Amino acid sequence: MSKVTVIGAGNVGATCANVLAHKDIVKEVVLIDIVGNLAKGKALDSWQQAPIDYYSTSLRGSDDYKETAGSDIVVITAGVPRKPGMSRDDLISTNARIVKSVTENIMKHSSNPIIIVVSNPLDVMTLACWRSSGLPSEQVFGMAGILDTARYRAFLATALDVSPKDIQALLMGGHGDTMVPLPRYTTVAGIPVTELIDEETLNQIVDRTRSGGGELVQLMGTSAWYAPGAAAAQMVEAILKDENRVFPVCAKLDGQYGLSDIFLGVPVKLGKNGIEQIIEVKLNQEEMNLLHESATAVKSVIDVYNNMNL
Ligand code: NAI
Ligand code: 2OP
Repeated sequence: MSKVTVIGAGNVGATCANVLAHKDIVKEVVLIDIVGNLAKGKALDSWQQAPIDYYSTSLRGSDDYKETAGSDIVVITAGVPRKPGMSRDDLISTNARIVKSVTENIMKHSSNPIIIVVSNPLDVMTLACWRSSGLPSEQVFGMAGILDTARYRAFLATALDVSPKDIQALLMGGHGDTMVPLPRYTTVAGIPVTELIDEETLNQIVDRTRSGGGELVQLMGTSAWYAPGAAAAQMVEAILKDENRVFPVCAKLDGQYGLSDIFLGVPVKLGKNGIEQIIEVKLNQEEMNLLHESATAVKSVIDVYNNMNL
């Protein structure tokens, strides 16, 4: 009997709500947007898909946060997306204000939700949401790692001509060009990927993964939504079903990996309480250096955010 709210009925938010409805694991999904009719329209359209695709999850759209009352999980996708030539960090001045006000509105109507942040720049927007929410950090985290890892896995599946289902991989760090795909922790049905692919091709795939979001912005003039929406829905599913799935998630670090006062992508266990555990895998020196470089890049955006004095 759970209730999930998705804030932002744009490309990612509407996709997330629709994928979630198809999973048929939620009593109701509420879609909120400042453009109220957009949320109403997309929710109604998704609800009218229910008799065709056989789900019972009801969907409602609104611009009124009263409709979100008592949400168990809230996914925040409100904000502006990237246009060609923009980095995720260019979005901060607009999206930081949006994420702060959205979080305050959520907290007026739900006393103890779990919040999944999707808006960019992801690592810093997750921090912003956590600060505005007053919630424990186990309940506020960001979606990026599942998407970035999915891109990495999809590229590997193409290169190896195998099913993406059989590719397991780990990717850590910030949701930006400094993210750290980890070939040492990548397998194809348990076989180390390095046994199946030459180093040059693997390096090309790692580089393509790092700029995977930008590749789609170039192709479409705006950022991606199918994989991002599905990734956020997968996190909701892991929590609602108390699955303890192990995913890379943007989480608050308090000394793990030698890092503190930062939200960054790391492997976690996701269950009914949100982040049940942050997993500390052994990194070699080179991997640790890359992770710390990524943290430094995220910290420079945190500085920009702090200087906004919101
Ligand atoms: P979009 O422009 O299609 O949708 C954003 C929606 O947010 C719009 O409908 C807009 O009206 C709404 N909105 C703006 N201010 C709002 C407010 N104060 N309250 C409620 N709704 C508000 O954008 P899209 O493509 O859905 O992307 C959304 C965000 O997600 C962007 O910041 C984008 O960069 C980010 N993103 C993050 C990913 C990740 O891996 N973390 C992946 C893809 C996108
Ligand atoms: C993506 O990676 C832009 O963050 C968005 O597609």
